[in-house]
Amino acid sequence: MWETIALGIIAYIPALIANSLAVVFGGGKPMDFGVEINNKRLLGDGKTWRGFFGGGISAGILGVLLDLTPMSLYPSYLLIPFALSFGSMTGDVLGSLIKRRSGWKRGENVPILDQYDFVFGSLLFSMIALPSWTMETYFKGVGLYTLLILLIAVPALHRAVNVIGYKLGLKNEPW
Ligand code: CTP
Ligand code: MG
Repeated sequence: MWETIALGIIAYIPALIANSLAVVFGGGKPMDFGVEINNKRLLGDGKTWRGFFGGGISAGILGVLLDLTPMSLYPSYLLIPFALSFGSMTGDVLGSLIKRRSGWKRGENVPILDQYDFVFGSLLFSMIALPSWTMETYFKGVGLYTLLILLIAVPALHRAVNVIGYKLGLKNEPW
């Protein structure tokens, strides 16, 4: 049982790490091209194309590399790790869309939304890509424990990674 849970958590790494890698690759043209609606940006300068694709691709590759080790993580080579990483990046974009519409500025700390937008996006994309594997790994039987542990660990992980990014000068805020 613990091995199954550990493998489920390791398999989820592309989703966990994508946003942090986006910070490293970010910059350049914002994804909303500066468009404003009702004097509020659609997404804001914190969502860039370079960050989106840099984070999505590099985190996907990391998952593929993990799968090449003797651990057998995914039933397909590319589908799941990239669904998790790009789903994570897309959830993050949706989170910013909600933040901007609600009047929160770029970088403003919004608990729950900031920490779980990418979880929602990654599990949704994984579900669309390969429902059977996603159900088995995160939503059925032992998989539910894996999900529970992830949901509990995510805020702390998110916080820790962001503090590191802030200390390294990659991020403007420690959240
Ligand atoms: N980033 C990026 N492109 C993305 C996601 C993130 O360039 N698609 C980079 C940006 O430099 C961003 C940093 O990663 O500032 C941190 O991401 P995040 O905390 O999600 O953005 P915020 O700047 O806090 O903006 P928001 O309020 O919209 O979340
Ligand atoms: Mg932020």
